[in-house]
Amino acid sequence: MKQHIFFTGFMASGKSRTGRALAERLGYPFIDTDAEIVNRAGKSITDIFAQDGEAVFRQMEHDVIEEITKNETPQVISLGGGALNQPENLKIIRNSGTIVRLWAKPEILSERIGRKNTRPLLANLSDEERLAKIKTMLKEREPIYAQADFSIESTNDANESHVIERLLHLLKFWKSHALDVLPSSGGRYPIFIGKNIIPETSCLLEGLCLSPKYDFLVCTDTTIAKVQNEALHQLRGQAGRCPIFKFQAGERNKTLHNLNQLFSFMLHRGYTRKSCLLQFSGGVVGDMAGFGAATYQRGIPFIQFPTTLLSMVDSSVGGKVAVNHPEGKNMIGAFYQPQAVVCDLSVLKTLPWNEYLAGLAEVVKYGVIYDEEFFSYIEQHVEDIKQKKNDILRHLIFRSCQIKAEVVSIDEKESGLRAILNYGHTFGHAIEKLTNYEMFSHGIAVSLGMRVAARVAVSLGMLDESAEKRQNALLDALGFPKSFNVNTEAAWNAMAIDKKAEKGSRVYILPTKIGEVQKVVNVDKDIIAKSWSAIQAKEA
Ligand SMILES: NC(=O)c1ccc[n+]([C@@H]2O[C@H](COP(=O)([O-])OP(=O)(O)OC[C@H]3O[C@@H](n4cnc5c(N)ncnc54)[C@H](O)[C@@H]3O)[C@@H](O)[C@H]2O)c1
Repeated sequence: MKQHIFFTGFMASGKSRTGRALAERLGYPFIDTDAEIVNRAGKSITDIFAQDGEAVFRQMEHDVIEEITKNETPQVISLGGGALNQPENLKIIRNSGTIVRLWAKPEILSERIGRKNTRPLLANLSDEERLAKIKTMLKEREPIYAQADFSIESTNDANESHVIERLLHLLKFWKSHALDVLPSSGGRYPIFIGKNIIPETSCLLEGLCLSPKYDFLVCTDTTIAKVQNEALHQLRGQAGRCPIFKFQAGERNKTLHNLNQLFSFMLHRGYTRKSCLLQFSGGVVGDMAGFGAATYQRGIPFIQFPTTLLSMVDSSVGGKVAVNHPEGKNMIGAFYQPQAVVCDLSVLKTLPWNEYLAGLAEVVKYGVIYDEEFFSYIEQHVEDIKQKKNDILRHLIFRSCQIKAEVVSIDEKESGLRAILNYGHTFGHAIEKLTNYEMFSHGIAVSLGMRVAARVAVSLGMLDESAEKRQNALLDALGFPKSFNVNTEAAWNAMAIDKKAEKGSRVYILPTKIGEVQKVVNVDKDIIAKSWSAIQAKEA
């Protein structure tokens, strides 16, 4: 269980003082790992380093961390400077609590350290020398501090109770922290899932070191601006009343032309690289604003506040951002990760049933491609899912994001495993293209595509017919459309320019059982054509 609160930060950042004050406020014990080591060794850290060497110190530090984190009573723990640098410590610490980084401006640190003059590494230096050395050390240690879940400023003027109030606010928000995504290219970002959490996000912006340094802008679409007006303004208020930019709702507006209007809006208002986009919408604007963030002045931070189920379980996670081109969907894009994803379940209240269903298609997909147990969970909770019950929704979103995060952490850029996420998509994209992206939303098209893909797998002898039936029965129970008549030749041609087609070959993701899929290249055209019968309307 994640019950402890860990403090990290540079010397004199106030870890012990603030840690103690927080512990007192919460009624938790306070432990300083360095003090604990000194206590156990019966000598100072300087002496341990000098007499026994750093390796002995690190082992003692590891033993202390391992032991105290086993305690089931929540504790506030101040960590020594190098503790997070050891991967085995980091793993234990992450699994057992929240890591808070306390930071202060170098000038403030220098003034505090100089006043006492007791830190061996920075003793007996002039003010200028000490400040310069602190700046260099902070730069070197930044990768360690970046491991913290959130940061909080320790200023000289703020009295302790003010810092504690901010910390308590952040820790309350962090209760909705569900998981972290660790893209294979490095970095890490948190996903939050909770009810009514948008009005609490000002502390998140501070905790991610964006507020008050950055200028914010909220992106949304015209429909959401109407139906989620209150939440939109709550979000805007979190970032200090920032402007709102509205795209026209709808897939056909996911264009470079419309994105350029966002760029003009930002340039005319003087947004610099120190800007952050808060995108409050479904996958269409999410993809567009994300690509905007990836390219505006060579990249600015953005946070996803998804408003559709599909964008919560799929498009907001994984870092694919793009706009469409007349030649194909998502043809112009990038891989660019958000700073965080905030899924507020409350906004799903206004989501039309069809859009909700579109998200459920992706949820079912995760069960089919990766996790039979999750598939069974969905089967067992069909009625609760239809009623959008919060606890069930939270689990659906959590497990879906977890599966996607797991896949993306192995293969961010779709050179291998990530392709399994395209289950149902090759056929679904063909349906979307043949219907000008107007008849079905993306998720519904994917659900039809899953039926066709399962039929291809059965035709190839890879999948039991009973598994195909099980998948389709769940889709039926949830209320997905069962049929759509396609011109198989037109569909074959539409699939040819699917960007998932590898050069000279066609790639299909096909199930071998519920919970497992395989990549298959170049299936016979006839088998594909016949498999469309899986969604052909039956003659009366
Ligand atoms: N980046 C990725 O990895 C990825 C993955 C899957 C899908 N996508 C993309 O996502 C897009 C589809 O996303 P989507 O299904 O969220 O569509 P969407 O963004 O168009 O939203 C669907 C409709 O619902 C409305 N809406 C959104 N939230 C609402 C709410 N809370 N209440 C009422 N109405 C609301 C929107 O205005 C829109 O009309 C596609 O463009 C697809 O390519 C991207």
